[in-house]
Amino acid sequence: MSKQTRRHFLWLTVGTLTALGSVSVNAEIKRQQILALDDPKRRFKVVEKTSLKHRAFKKGRKLLYGAAVRHDQIAQDGLYAQNIVNECAILTPEWALKWHTPNKPLRPSPLEFDFSAADASLAFTQTHGLLLRGHTLVWHHSLPPWFKNTVTKQNAKGYLEQHIRAVVGRYAGKIHSWDVVNEAIEEGYLLHKGRRDGLRNTPWLELLGTNYIDYAFRLTREVDPKALLVYNDYGLDYDTYEDEAKRNAVLRLLKHLKSKGTPIDAFGMQAHLDASKHRAFKPAVLRKFLRNIADLGLKIMITELDVTDKEIPLGPERDRIVASVYEDYLNAALQEKAVISVQTWGLSDKYTWLSEFQPRNDSSQVRPLLLDTSMNRKLSWNAVARALSNMHVPTPFKHT
Ligand code: G3I
Repeated sequence: MSKQTRRHFLWLTVGTLTALGSVSVNAEIKRQQILALDDPKRRFKVVEKTSLKHRAFKKGRKLLYGAAVRHDQIAQDGLYAQNIVNECAILTPEWALKWHTPNKPLRPSPLEFDFSAADASLAFTQTHGLLLRGHTLVWHHSLPPWFKNTVTKQNAKGYLEQHIRAVVGRYAGKIHSWDVVNEAIEEGYLLHKGRRDGLRNTPWLELLGTNYIDYAFRLTREVDPKALLVYNDYGLDYDTYEDEAKRNAVLRLLKHLKSKGTPIDAFGMQAHLDASKHRAFKPAVLRKFLRNIADLGLKIMITELDVTDKEIPLGPERDRIVASVYEDYLNAALQEKAVISVQTWGLSDKYTWLSEFQPRNDSSQVRPLLLDTSMNRKLSWNAVARALSNMHVPTPFKHT
């Protein structure tokens, strides 16, 4: 090997080792920053074993606690179903009322409806005296395979009307609230590069124009005057530039809808949280956003609360950090008296979308929810129980 080649090889090796070294140093710094979120003195001690729904639905603040469930899971897992009934006052079908998901999709073809999963979900709630939510009528995800080649600008309004009249009509008077439109506002760089109104370029926007939102709400109100009508969205929780931009875009949308008389009753705050981002959670920022929504005359539903632990190292700190995220978030949110419900997106780690969508790099079982895979209560259950029990009588929020 020539002297020059040897010198290049040496520099390449030094460079690689330095790069690898800096990667592992950065990873260790990030690991330490995450572990610093832990407070070993935080014990999450709870008094009594009272269920979450009974802690929530108390005199002076009849808050509803519940979860999202899949009809097949509660049919096949009796222990899970028993815990759902014990802890929850209100349920959201995770799949059954979407246009398309595996396992008995609602819309198998342009002219067909398969209500079997939704009927099973309703029957379960009626058997056990629980409330049922509708999720969701207008969304850019979970559209059936036939949608793209069938629905056009000419017939889109007809397909949407047919869907809402059939689905909302079938359950009229039996649904507590409908997520009429889901996730219509962009986030991240698309919010800055995209439309001035912040609307996501969904098939519905492309097919029907910006009025699709108002149209969906008005038609749903006509078909089921009893249900609360909700606009549902995510990515609004943290004191970050991206989340602040999306909060402002959501507020602009809600103000616009209210100004044109759109029949909207509530905002759905999905609250899919990330434990590793907890340093960016600022209670005052969340409370200000919720108060701004309430000032529009809207109720607020926390619709899909969970805490991904994807980035949290294995160890005793992990459940404590997740639990502290639940308690800190709810302690802030529940000070807003317009909040009428809290639902987690699932109840047990055995059944969470995060297992598939945000698996851990160490391949260990994710632990984002309140019960473990054997349905035992975790620290995060205690955290939610404490937040519900300690829910203060709301104090008026002073605008800073
Ligand atoms: O299991 C099948 C697999 O057999 C098949 O090969 C594959 C490809 O079609 O699909 C797999 O099922 C997927 C399922 O998740 C697996 O759990 C479905 O396609 C997929 O649609 C489903 O994702 C759901 C997602 O919404 C889209 O509908 C999640 O379960 C559900 O938790 C998630 O929930 C959403 C809310 O509705 C709206 N807010 C965000 C929230 C999380 O993304």
